[in-house]
Amino acid sequence: MHDFHGSTSTESAESAEDIERCLERHANKGMLRFITCGGVDDGKSTLIGRLLYESKLVFEDQLAALETDSRRVGTQGDGLDFALLVDGLAAEREQGITIDVAYRYFTTQRRKFVVADTPGHEQYTRNMVTGASTADLAVILVDARRGVLPQTRRHSYLVSLLGIRHVVLVVNKLDLVGYSQRVFDDIDAEYRAFAREIGVDDVVAVPVSAYLGDNLTARSTDTPWYEGPTLIEHLETVEVEVEDERGERPFRMPVQWVNRPDPDFRGFSGQVVGGVVRPGDRVRVLPGGQETTVARIVTRDGDLAEAVPGRSVTLTLTDEIDVGRGDVLAAADGSPGVADQFEAQIVWMGEHDMLPERPYLCRIGTATVQARITRPKYKINVDTLEKVATTTLALNEIGVCNVSFDRAVPFDPYTENRDTGGFVLIDRFTDDTVGAGMITHSLRRADNIHWQSVDVDSAARTELMGHGSQVVWFTGLSGSGKSTIANALDKRLYALGCHTYLLDGDNVRHGLCRDLGFTEADRVENIRRVTEVARLMTDAGLIVLASFISPFEAERRAARESIGDDRFCEIFVDTPLEVAEQRDRKGLYRKARAGELTNFTGIDSPYEAPGDADLRIDTTVMSPEEASAVIVEMLRARGVIA
Ligand code: ADX
Repeated sequence: MHDFHGSTSTESAESAEDIERCLERHANKGMLRFITCGGVDDGKSTLIGRLLYESKLVFEDQLAALETDSRRVGTQGDGLDFALLVDGLAAEREQGITIDVAYRYFTTQRRKFVVADTPGHEQYTRNMVTGASTADLAVILVDARRGVLPQTRRHSYLVSLLGIRHVVLVVNKLDLVGYSQRVFDDIDAEYRAFAREIGVDDVVAVPVSAYLGDNLTARSTDTPWYEGPTLIEHLETVEVEVEDERGERPFRMPVQWVNRPDPDFRGFSGQVVGGVVRPGDRVRVLPGGQETTVARIVTRDGDLAEAVPGRSVTLTLTDEIDVGRGDVLAAADGSPGVADQFEAQIVWMGEHDMLPERPYLCRIGTATVQARITRPKYKINVDTLEKVATTTLALNEIGVCNVSFDRAVPFDPYTENRDTGGFVLIDRFTDDTVGAGMITHSLRRADNIHWQSVDVDSAARTELMGHGSQVVWFTGLSGSGKSTIANALDKRLYALGCHTYLLDGDNVRHGLCRDLGFTEADRVENIRRVTEVARLMTDAGLIVLASFISPFEAERRAARESIGDDRFCEIFVDTPLEVAEQRDRKGLYRKARAGELTNFTGIDSPYEAPGDADLRIDTTVMSPEEASAVIVEMLRARGVIA
């Protein structure tokens, strides 16, 4: 089961595993995965609770607990509060909202169901994306008294974006509008018009009272005008293109790990996310492209004659080919594309706005790469479906952007395969999931630009220079003493006959970065450009001293990765804010405190202190001269200079 990130199940681990196994055995035949979306007050938990209750899936002890709980904290008087069945987490009860995705399993005589219950609270787009990424159908709830709300449209848009083509519109609390057919018809018509615009054609609307049980499992006598199915009837009979049809797509399996218990066995483990695989099938290993044949399909329960989507297996191959985690095994005659630049739809889920050109971690399939996102081409106003110009994406916003990865990966357009066409973005400093992306297509422009190899290589330059090349990266607050130390170091290295160049924030901002200010986005771009320049200079054989506040961990790490660990060392000039502010040689702290200068580091713009610098210099106990001497020793120890 692919999910975007961090799913949880409220089943106990054991029973969830049992169910997974059972699902695997039945190869998902006839099973329906659906997601429920609705606002905090739309009655979603009550609806699911009642579905579970009426399909007799509630166990005796849970029922007893429910009765006690209903009396204690319930919101429904003396009746059972079905929402309590669902809102299992203590935190949810306290806040009165559902805060995570819960997967519930239930069965009727006609079908098995997995329902992803996701919260409707605005902040929790992430959970919805998680739940929707595996669902075939969405149940969207509206309160009959309130009708179609902006969040109904937002949820529907997300559902459509995530590839769900079937929607059930549950018009709930119909008892509170006197079971009015007109109210129901109006909501139905308004919703259908919107659904058509976002490409959802299969909409079935059901008039419901989840609290009273109308039209859930039994037809209500209060809605004689309604001739459609009850909710459960529809869910039991709706035809969605589940695994059988997915099986007609070309075979895909992202490799999760290489299974090598002894020297005689080498298998590649992962989950089939498209097509069917059988021993003897010709497959290709991507991104490399080598072709080979599947020898065996190995599982805990013995070898298989075939594996379908959803199945976790270990494949052995007839040839000795280098395959690693993140590679994709695919049908030889229907392989995915391989590219490092894409156009994608991005759903932003970070508290912090998206920063164009910031390096984020990206998980696509089982691979982890570094991704940079361009300034959005536009974002979508989900109420009007208008394309709106923007420079960033804020929490819950959806936009279209170009994305570039630091290496080529196998991919399919998201509409063809959600698993090989979807990715998540992770903040490198906080490890939070900040975005989800859906690839629309790759960009060709990178295909026509090749790396020109040169004959004078870095070994030759080192010999001519008489020393190795290196970037010595200083980071620290304004006024911490970076430039003073870098200057002292520059003089020492010059005296030792080294070829150096000092890149300094204040100077670079007069030319190369003259167009940039001090917003987070501009600082990201400032450091990106400086990193590129420093890398070119190390290619030229120089020792580069880079002195920039460089306040963000993500950009510093990206600089190290781009330049290479052996050619990069980071020096944290650790001067407390009070000390830097007291020195205030440029008078900038005074201005910042007076409100004449905004976005000033340490005052109203953050500084993320490095946790893993190669050297930390405490300028309250060490002079710039001493510091530069220590750095020279460090460069000797690293073998940069003799
Ligand atoms: S960085 O954050 O993008 O790395 P950089 O090192 O290039 O900053 O530039 C910092 C220098 O710009 C400071 O030493 C200071 O002299 C000057 N400066 C002007 N405005 C600001 C500001 N708002 N925040 C920090 N530095 C500023």
